[in-house]
Amino acid sequence: NSSLRTRMSTQKAAQNLGMNVMVLNVSNDSWQIEFEDGAIMNAGTAEHIKEAARVISQYCDIIGVRTFAKLQNFKEDYEEVVLNKFIEHSTAPIISLESATLHPLQSLADGMTIEEYKTTKTPNVVLTWAPHSRALPQAVSNSFAQWMNKLDVNLTITHPEGYNLQNEYVGNAKVTTNQNEALANADFVYAKNWASVEKYGKILTSDNNWMITKEKMALTNAGKFMHCLPVRRNVIVADEVIDSAGSIIVEQAGNRVFATQAVLKQILEWKN
Ligand code: CP
Repeated sequence: NSSLRTRMSTQKAAQNLGMNVMVLNVSNDSWQIEFEDGAIMNAGTAEHIKEAARVISQYCDIIGVRTFAKLQNFKEDYEEVVLNKFIEHSTAPIISLESATLHPLQSLADGMTIEEYKTTKTPNVVLTWAPHSRALPQAVSNSFAQWMNKLDVNLTITHPEGYNLQNEYVGNAKVTTNQNEALANADFVYAKNWASVEKYGKILTSDNNWMITKEKMALTNAGKFMHCLPVRRNVIVADEVIDSAGSIIVEQAGNRVFATQAVLKQILEWKN
């Protein structure tokens, strides 16, 4: 799927380490890949993942895979077929550049950004659902919750009824449907839309009272505003917040390079 930050920051991180980078947009540039074992390939797909992954491994030392949730079938998305088939069949290490359910390199950069900007040992971090006109995956929110559970932060997740994330990612976070209560004394406000898990892939509300405004940020402890980007202005967040001094979205996106560079460097060290 489309990408600005993940694609460019990964290329930049690799280039900083002296690596060469090849980008293959499978949807447009390559043969359509078949992922089903035993498929009779007499329709749209021209190449099986068994060959594709092993051949790409002949050309590359590390393979980054980016794949998106279809948001039609919970089981199919959460089984992570595309990513897992690459892991199964490639002979080179695989990194996720965002999958159907997780976006780990984003979360590593998010954690790094919170570490840089925190002013207390254990900051209050709020992940808040925000409205959006299209149904979006849970990948960024799942990953963010999962990673915040590993850091020294107090995590609160707030969303409307029907938007619960899976317990395995929520972990020890406090969960509330009262956004104002969640925002009180927040040091970091991470806004993100996600589609319902319960009614999988559905938009249950577009209530713009959930948009992050100046009035909402006034409830916080001079909280920093974060978002993974791209963000729809005046839908997810008001201009006055995203353009304010408390908005650290650009620095957050900048950290995508260093987070990815650390991961690539460690993989190269393991390989050698
Ligand atoms: N945050 C993020 O993954 O951005 P892109 O979709 O532009 O890569």
